Amino acid sequence: MIDKRHANNRGDAKARAASSRSWIVLLAVLYLFKYTISTADAATMAPLSPASQAAAALQVVHWWTSAGERKAVDVLASKLAEENIQWRDLAIPGGAGLGASKVLKSMVLAGKAPEATQLNGIVFGEWADLGLLLELDDIAAPGNWQKLLFPTVWSLVHNRGHVVAVPLGIHRINNLFYNKKIFDRLGLAAPRTWAEFDRVAEKLKHAGITPLAQSSEAWQVATLFEALVLAESGPAYYRSLFVDLNPGAFGDARMTHALQRLRALKEWMPAPLKERPWPDMTRQLASGDAAMFVMGDWAKGELLAWGLTTDQDFSCVALPGTADYHLYSVDTLAMFAGDYSHQPAQEKLAQLIMSQPVQTAYNQAKGAIPAWRSPDLSKMDSCARASWSAFSKGSAFQAPSLVHRMAADETAKDAIVAEVHRYFMDDKMAESDIQRKLASIARSLSKTGKQE
Ligand code: BGC
Repeated sequence: MIDKRHANNRGDAKARAASSRSWIVLLAVLYLFKYTISTADAATMAPLSPASQAAAALQVVHWWTSAGERKAVDVLASKLAEENIQWRDLAIPGGAGLGASKVLKSMVLAGKAPEATQLNGIVFGEWADLGLLLELDDIAAPGNWQKLLFPTVWSLVHNRGHVVAVPLGIHRINNLFYNKKIFDRLGLAAPRTWAEFDRVAEKLKHAGITPLAQSSEAWQVATLFEALVLAESGPAYYRSLFVDLNPGAFGDARMTHALQRLRALKEWMPAPLKERPWPDMTRQLASGDAAMFVMGDWAKGELLAWGLTTDQDFSCVALPGTADYHLYSVDTLAMFAGDYSHQPAQEKLAQLIMSQPVQTAYNQAKGAIPAWRSPDLSKMDSCARASWSAFSKGSAFQAPSLVHRMAADETAKDAIVAEVHRYFMDDKMAESDIQRKLASIARSLSKTGKQE
C-alpha cells in the first residue's frame, strides 16, 4: 500500500510538474530565499533531522510561539507522545507566519523538508502540485473526514481530488474583544453598530483609557482592514476583491468607505502607533491599558493562557456590521512525502488531530473552534459558540482571510498588505491613490492567470 501511494504521489507529481506556474514559483522562491534567510532565522532553527531518522519522531515547523499557542501545541505533542512518537518542535517566531513561511521554503529547497508543517491556505496547492505533500486519502476516507468536516474545510484540504492536509481548527478574525471589567465599571455595553462604537470609544477616551489597541505591524493593520471591508460590504464583494482579484472592485465606493473607516479608527488608537507583536497588544487589553482590540481569536487563547476568563475578564462581539459573517483562517498541518519512512507516524499524527478529544482540547487552548461541523458545544465559551454559529451558516456567510492566506497567493497578499499599510501610516495618501494602486496590483496578477 505504501508503495502504491508512493507511486501515486510520484506519478501525479510528474503530471503536475508540467504546470509551468508552479515551476516559476519554485524558481522565484529559490532565488528569493537564498538571500532572505537571515542569521536570526538560522539561529531559531533546531538541527535538521537526518533522512535516516527513526520514524518515531516528527519534526514540525510552525509559528505558534505565544503562551496560548504553546499550550495548543502541547496538546498535540503530548497526544503524540502517548503513541510513542516524539514531536520535534521547530517553532519560528513571527505573527501570521511571516518568518515561518520563509524558513519552510528554504528548508524544502535545500532538500531538508520537515515531516510536518503548519501550512495554511491555498499555498499548499502549490506544494502539492509539486508532489511534495503526503496524500492522506487512506486516512481520510475510513476516518469519514468528508462527513465530519465543514464543507469549506473539506474543500480546503483537497488538492486535485486528494487530501493533502489535516485541519486543526477554524479561527475567526472579525472579533472585537473588550475588557469586561472596564466596560462594567463604566456602564458600557459592547458596541454593535459603528455609531455605538464611536460613542463607547468617546467615553473610554474621556475616562483616560485607550479605546482601541493596535500595532502598526503591517499584517496586524491589514487584519483590521480586511474585517472592515467585510463590515462594509459582506462576503460577496469581499471575495470579488481578494479571491477574484477583480480590478474594477477596488475602485468601488465600498472600498473607499472601508479605507476611510480604517483611518478614522486611528482617533481611538494609541499615538504614536508602535510596531508591537500581537501578544503585546493583547496584554494591553488584559491589563486595561486599552479597552478594545480587533484580532483573530488566537488572542482569546492568549488571554485564557494568562488565566483570564471569558465573560468575566474579557468578552467578544463581532465587529460592527459583521455579526452574521465569519472571516476565517483555518490552521492546517501538511506532511511532506520525503522518503516515506515517517509515513506511519505522519498518518498517526493526522488521525490524532482529527479525533474529537484533540479537536476539542487543542481548540480550547488555541482560541479557535474545531474543524468538525458538529463539535461538542458544551465545551465552548460564548465567543467560540458565536464563531461556530456564524461559520455554520455556510459559504455565503464566510469570507476567507486574505492576510492569513485563505484568499489569494503569497504574492497578491503581500502586495495588498503593503499598500494598505502604506495608506494607514501616511495620512496624506488619498483613498483614490491607494485604490488605483490596488486595482493595478489586481490587474497585473490577473494577467498571470487570475480572473479579470
Ligand atoms: C494563524 C494562527 C496564529 C496567528 C498568529 C495566524 O495566521 O492562523 O494559528 O495563532 O497567525 O500568529
